[in-house]
Amino acid sequence: MPDELVRGRRSLRVDDLRERAVQVLPPPVSEYFNSGAREGLSAAEAATAWDRVRFLPRMLRNVSAVSTATSVLGQQVATPILVAPMAMQKAAHPDGEAAVARAAAASGSLMAVSTNSGSKFADIGAAGAPWWLQVYVLRDRGVTAALLEGAKAAGATAIVLTVDTPIVGSKYIAGQSIYEVVPDDFRLVNAAKAGVPEAALEQADDLTPDDVGWLRDLTGLPVVVKGVLRADDARLLVSAGASAVQVSNHGGRQLDQAVATAAALPEIAAAISGTGAEVYVDSGIRRAEHVLAALALGARAVFIGRPVLWALAAGGPSGQGGEEGVADLLARFTADFREVMALAGVRAPGEISADLVRRVP
Ligand code: FNR
Repeated sequence: MPDELVRGRRSLRVDDLRERAVQVLPPPVSEYFNSGAREGLSAAEAATAWDRVRFLPRMLRNVSAVSTATSVLGQQVATPILVAPMAMQKAAHPDGEAAVARAAAASGSLMAVSTNSGSKFADIGAAGAPWWLQVYVLRDRGVTAALLEGAKAAGATAIVLTVDTPIVGSKYIAGQSIYEVVPDDFRLVNAAKAGVPEAALEQADDLTPDDVGWLRDLTGLPVVVKGVLRADDARLLVSAGASAVQVSNHGGRQLDQAVATAAALPEIAAAISGTGAEVYVDSGIRRAEHVLAALALGARAVFIGRPVLWALAAGGPSGQGGEEGVADLLARFTADFREVMALAGVRAPGEISADLVRRVP
């Protein structure tokens, strides 16, 4: 077998994708996508924290058949690399969330869809990928309940309750804001907003763990709680009825200087191990090695955020983005993950355990 001498760079370089997206997107849009909260310290540290993990690969494990397939909440997926919920996907590409859903279907992945989606739930559901609805509980609980009902009718199989956004963290921008340059119908198109005052459509800031049970009982769907960074919160939320906890600092977009998810994950995974609740992680996952690290530190799956927006804007062989761009990102990310698994001596996600990592302080 020839050496894997790579001319140029054949494997995925997410940084290149980011640069391409910055070139094609209007500055207020790429600034919105890429910014972190305030000084951007957590946003910058998100990926570098994953970079600090070091592996102790296993040898002679017969890696002739490596599978990346796994399941989340009983749903089979071909890859543990899933799509995080993000607003404003139509600002990256006119096909928006619907294109991302089709790409997730083509890649055997799963998509979490933002409350603020600019594509209709029916168009997302028609793509055929498994999908979960991310919910911001709005001040108007009636509007929220109707939104949830619409998502369930269109095929959503779980609710992702984002808990790190009681208010939206400030991001400093240089020029115009994205809200000045994109049409209103790029967001929240699935809510019955007519006649509802603007303030009632803001995120509720009075949520408590009881809202987990409220959402579960209202929808009959499992609830994933996204934005957890503390072991005690994770325990509390599982007791309150959460089926899974997603360790996230919102890509560094909420509380600046919030801990990196690579650092928070192991304690949270340990705190709820044995409860049957699943653990996922996001923020700063940019390479297959980061996925291996995340699974070794206790996550069952990872969610990727900004790389999907960059791929939607400018990914794929043609550089035109859209469904092709995102499908190419997910396929190459997963192919890279398969290579990394083989080199680490693991044949299936279930064989990835904590002994594979040695953390460098
Ligand atoms: C987000 N994120 C997010 N989360 C959420 O629960 N609901 C939402 O509507 C949004 N919207 C959103 C917009 C944009 C532009 C970004 C970049 C992010 C957060 C997202 O789900 C995820 O937590 C982070 O993006 C993960 O970090 P990376 O992969 O972007 O570093």
